[in-house]
Amino acid sequence: MHDSAIFRSMHVARFEAEPAIYVAPGRVNLIGEHTDYAEGFVMPAAINFATLAGISPRGDGKIAIFSENYGQVRYFDAAELPSAASKHWTDYPLGVMATLAGMGNAMPGFSLSLWGDVPLGSGLSSSASVEVATALAVTGLLGVDYAGPVLARLCQRAENEFVGASCGIMDQFISANGAKDHALLLDCRDLSFKLAPIPGHVALVIANTMVKHAIAGGEYTTRRAEVEAACAVIASHRPEVRFLRDATVGDLEKWGHEMTPNSLKRARHVITENVRTVAAAEALIRSDLSELGRLMAEAHTSYSQDFEASCEEADAMVELAQDLPGLIGARLTGGGFGGCTINLVEQSHAIQFQERLAELYAGHTGIVPHIHICCASGGAHRLE
Ligand code: GLA
Repeated sequence: MHDSAIFRSMHVARFEAEPAIYVAPGRVNLIGEHTDYAEGFVMPAAINFATLAGISPRGDGKIAIFSENYGQVRYFDAAELPSAASKHWTDYPLGVMATLAGMGNAMPGFSLSLWGDVPLGSGLSSSASVEVATALAVTGLLGVDYAGPVLARLCQRAENEFVGASCGIMDQFISANGAKDHALLLDCRDLSFKLAPIPGHVALVIANTMVKHAIAGGEYTTRRAEVEAACAVIASHRPEVRFLRDATVGDLEKWGHEMTPNSLKRARHVITENVRTVAAAEALIRSDLSELGRLMAEAHTSYSQDFEASCEEADAMVELAQDLPGLIGARLTGGGFGGCTINLVEQSHAIQFQERLAELYAGHTGIVPHIHICCASGGAHRLE
């Protein structure tokens, strides 16, 4: 995570005011992909890559938003914030402000600085971390205290309705509610969750394929539509099925022939992934790491073959990890079509694993990957 003392002095130098500072982490998902918007299960962990948000009040009725990452500042009238996205990085913080305003919070003038080290476009939820950091900073300034799940929902709404990306609740939820040294089994139906401790001897090795992933528009949206179409077929026979969370493999055997071949495959992934995710949480809770690794391998195959959300490079990264000493389980994590793989690795092997995987991947693809040894971190909070 970036240094908050440096961040503070940057904010003071630019805006001549002492900021309150908040932090919101990115995340890695251990298992449970494209299940959140089907009201199913996911098992992410917050990680030690994060966005810092610094905020201080202003007297001129303006909202200044500065991004250290983009080296850019923009000014808006607090009383007249944009009501639509403009395909600019400010869409994320502005979406949060618009959502907060829609909840009855009048926006005062303030200066907001943002600085993150979550790699952009790599499937580690840099966007959610910006949203949650912004939401905490602005509500902190307003003196409004929303519970973690409420904060997560409002940030998801900002992304759905303002930014225009049809994401589920996972990323914002884990950023707001993560727990140090734990993964969280989240039921995306009612947002209840169970903590699953990650043993101290297990490292989260996150391997960036360097293939960019984007969830606004494109394949993510197509997959979601295919999942929803499959659900509608099942619901036409069993009206109690509102989401694929309620469906079974038996439903696919009965009515799969009424679906397009793609919808059928996507639905098979989601339905089996829900079962795997709950089983994986149970395995982690009882420290059955070989079962967890087996489920992760199965999940990757399903994500790659049935959901077709992987890519050659991510498949290679997962494949190349298989024979390396210390591996517990590996799979592509996040929205898909590039981004990172998550490798659970015995801590004692983590450094050699990191080096060897980088060499093998570069040799195989010609791309130099970024591989990070991470740990599960706490959720968003005020720093100072
Ligand atoms: C992205 C979305 C999440 C989730 C994952 C896939 O990260 O933001 O809501 O759907 O993809 O599991």
